[in-house]
Amino acid sequence: MAAPLICPSILSADFAKLGEEVAAIDAAGADWIHVDVMDGHFVPNLTIGPMVVKALRPHSRKPFDVHLMVAPVDPWLEAYREAGADILSVHPESGPHVHRTLGQIRKLGAKAGLVLNPATPVEVVAETVDLLDLVLIMSVNPGFGGQGFIESSLRKIERVRAILDAAGSKATLQVDGGVTASNAGACVAAGADALVAGTAAFKGGASAYAANISALKAAA
Ligand code: DX5
Ligand code: ZN
Repeated sequence: MAAPLICPSILSADFAKLGEEVAAIDAAGADWIHVDVMDGHFVPNLTIGPMVVKALRPHSRKPFDVHLMVAPVDPWLEAYREAGADILSVHPESGPHVHRTLGQIRKLGAKAGLVLNPATPVEVVAETVDLLDLVLIMSVNPGFGGQGFIESSLRKIERVRAILDAAGSKATLQVDGGVTASNAGACVAAGADALVAGTAAFKGGASAYAANISALKAAA
């Protein structure tokens, strides 16, 4: 089984020096840089605007995997694409017409991701599969790093993997929330090929980043 992509979430980085942190986690072996955008409305936290993404862009050539926890999300797609996002992932609950939103993302030249919260039915994947470059399964309720992995997410990964395979989709299946070396293997065995990690990637400071990422890859 191929090693999963490791997508460190900068929500767990040192916000006093985000540019340095992005460069350090890139050098430590991150495959993608996961950027958690939160608006204090869709989720009970407030984080990173387009200007910050633009400022971070020169610090890494790795794909910026931007997870938009924003509602309404449509008015923000262009700003984050302009700022340097390569992937824009959206929640179906963050706008009235997610099929149209996914099409808009692709029209902007970005890869389109669909995010499933723990209570979001997997059927939405089947209804939009032709527009998907990524499916992100939330293994926590969104808003904060450092939460516990919801075990039932493993069954959900299997179900979404089956939908993608049945449709012949090449979309990346990503898991986000409470991912550590102790559950990375189970996530990949269930069908995931990309893992988001905040706490597990950034713990111990910059000197530990490479070992943290290797531990996640090895565990999977
Ligand atoms: C939660 C975010 C996750 C989070 C992951 O709303 O979408 O990306 O930062 O952090 P950990 O890995 O610490 O759960
Ligand atoms: Zn995220």
